[in-house]
Amino acid sequence: MSAAGSGGRPVVEVLNGVNLDQLGNRDPALYGTLTLPELEAMVEQEGNALGLEVRCFQTNHEGAYVERLHGARGVAAGLVLNPGAWTHYSWAIRDALEIAGAPAIEVHLSDPTSREQWRRLSVLDGLCFAAVRGQGPDGYREALALLRERIDGVAS
Ligand code: DQA
Repeated sequence: MSAAGSGGRPVVEVLNGVNLDQLGNRDPALYGTLTLPELEAMVEQEGNALGLEVRCFQTNHEGAYVERLHGARGVAAGLVLNPGAWTHYSWAIRDALEIAGAPAIEVHLSDPTSREQWRRLSVLDGLCFAAVRGQGPDGYREALALLRERIDGVAS
């Protein structure tokens, strides 16, 4: 069971991982020009429009990301995950996502599957119901809309 947030809206956690606080300083051709606070403001606005209570979080510490996932268990109705480079090697994050037990969607600003070989593996494969890649910040909007549909489908 996931608790509803204020106003009874489903809680969705949007968890950005390592180096995503550096948006604005990273290659704009890959990651766009929005800073993380600008991206999070857009995500919160979109979540509100969809009737979701969005809680954004970013960390450069793998253990903090893992613990945030532990805390999402029974709280979050859905998860939007961009673990950054951890996507490609953090089996600890995969295990923590299993523990969180909420419907999850993977998002990447760039498309890791068309970049270097080492980015082609995602440790989240098979645990997320969808992945949105290469859409820039708009990918987060799409992810929230897909998650809303998923939450509604599970509830009905
Ligand atoms: C990323 C893709 C990863 O391969 C990379 O390490 C990142 C960002 C993305 O959003 O495109 O830090 O997750």
